[in-house]
Amino acid sequence: MLKKILGKAVTTLAGRDDFAIPKHDSPLFAGLDWEKLPKHVAVIMDGNGRWAKGQGLMRTAGHKAGVKTLKNILKTASGLELDALTVYAFSTENWKRPEVEVDFLMNLFSEYLNKELQEMHENNVQIHFIGRLDGLSDSLQKQMREAVELTKNNTGVKFNIAANYGGQDELVRAMQKIAARVQAGELAPADINEALVEENLDTYGNLPVDLVIRTSGDMRLSNFLLWQAAYAEFYFTDVNWPEFSPECFVDALRDFASRDRRFGGLNEDKK
Ligand code: IPE
Ligand code: IPE
Ligand code: MG
Repeated sequence: MLKKILGKAVTTLAGRDDFAIPKHDSPLFAGLDWEKLPKHVAVIMDGNGRWAKGQGLMRTAGHKAGVKTLKNILKTASGLELDALTVYAFSTENWKRPEVEVDFLMNLFSEYLNKELQEMHENNVQIHFIGRLDGLSDSLQKQMREAVELTKNNTGVKFNIAANYGGQDELVRAMQKIAARVQAGELAPADINEALVEENLDTYGNLPVDLVIRTSGDMRLSNFLLWQAAYAEFYFTDVNWPEFSPECFVDALRDFASRDRRFGGLNEDKK
């Protein structure tokens, strides 16, 4: 049994501390069709609590373990040269959780930015935050602004962290901004179109989401990227986020490569 556990520990890259950005010829990427990679991947990092429970640990230990996973998935995204990785870190609904858990998560974000910012910068990652940021503490907002400022000229993966994010809330805020311009006489209602809505979303400047991954077995969006995922492919796995390894991530991309994306049209061979 012990051998089995140890064996598993050495053969998976989940949560490994020494994981480096994989090169193109890494065995991790074996058999991957580079032509068919998604450009923008969004991840609902779910199952930290269930993982912790399974280990006999507190839920908070699951969130801590989840941070390690996130670091390695971001490095994998850099190795793959994805255009954007958007991760769901805290939803507008997550305030319903016990105060101790919310406080722990907020401290964890702050610690994460403190500890990881420099390395992300060195890895050419461009950091963004999406969500109702003014609902977060002043000190966290300051850290976020500093992270965005430091990395704004980086040309690698756009790393969008959704914090106090809700897709409905984002659309409401976009509508308020547009309505204010209509009221000011700058726009007529007929000027409102898809492009204008996009411009007023937090994700403006990103390509549409190609792939949404949700870990831990639940099959729902939980208010994530409602507009941006209009034509996304969905990938669900039972693996809990703390155990979601770079191999699991690459598996999701392999699955994506096999999808037949029609965008409402017909494929070449069916025309
Ligand atoms: C995801 O894991 C992390 C956040 C929502 C912040 P959960 O905390 O939702 O874990 P489960 O779903 O309870 O297992
Ligand atoms: C979605 O997970 C939010 C994040 C991963 C941050 P939840 O655990 O909050 O979603 P529900 O409550 O199961 O829908
Ligand atoms: Mg959950």
